[in-house]
Amino acid sequence: MPPSIITIAQQKGGAGKTTLVASLAAAWAATRRVTIIDIDPQHSLTRWHGLRAARKSAPAITLAEIAGWRLAGELDKLRRNSDIILIDSPPQIDTDARQAVRAADLVLVPIQPSPPDLWAAEGTFGLAQAEKRRLAIVLNRAPATGKLRGMVEADIARLGHRLLPTVLGNRTGFATAFALGLGVTETAPRSRAAEELRSLLADIEGALE
Ligand SMILES: Nc1ncnc2c1ncn2[C@@H]1O[C@H](COP(=O)(O)OP(=O)(O)OP(=O)(O)O)[C@@H](O)[C@H]1O
Ligand SMILES: [Mg+2]
Repeated sequence: MPPSIITIAQQKGGAGKTTLVASLAAAWAATRRVTIIDIDPQHSLTRWHGLRAARKSAPAITLAEIAGWRLAGELDKLRRNSDIILIDSPPQIDTDARQAVRAADLVLVPIQPSPPDLWAAEGTFGLAQAEKRRLAIVLNRAPATGKLRGMVEADIARLGHRLLPTVLGNRTGFATAFALGLGVTETAPRSRAAEELRSLLADIEGALE
């Protein structure tokens, strides 16, 4: 796979963007050179990376500290030293978020399966469309079954967006791993959460092809 830039974006707060970036980065770091960029002023991903630095056995991940407005200029340099670049964006559409979407080979949008969460993502879909970027949706914190999930899946199909086949459940393992500066494939490699994450990784690689 050539170097890929994946921006995780969703205007709605708390959709799972940062948790997802961390778990994806940690899983890819086992075999690839991973760079993460945190353009969210909350800086949760930066703090996660700080926790990780204390874990000497965890494969290293590079944190590139770049303001959104400098992104385009810095990315070419980063591409040379990374296989995968993951950008975590803030829960709003501002100039920085726009830059991050513009730079992406794939815009990954986590959505909790309920209609208001899908509605809240419309601005993010519009941004990806305006920037002509490839977009994929991943359902996050989904209950095992349920009517709501079916409704949201149907709405996504109607909108014509790509929905990745893997669905992430509502699993504390993701949050626990994050609190330790790790990813779920590192803290609990045999868990359902880790299985889902690995499956999502394969979906994303497919979407990038
Ligand atoms: N699959 C999951 N299962 C259980 N909890 C989850 C899952 N994904 C995320 N969470 C939890 O949901 C909360 C919000 O997650 P996170 O901070 O990653 O969202 P965010 O989209 O980055 O938020 P913000 O918009 O504020 O940046 C956190 O407490 C996190 O631990
Ligand atoms: Mg976040």
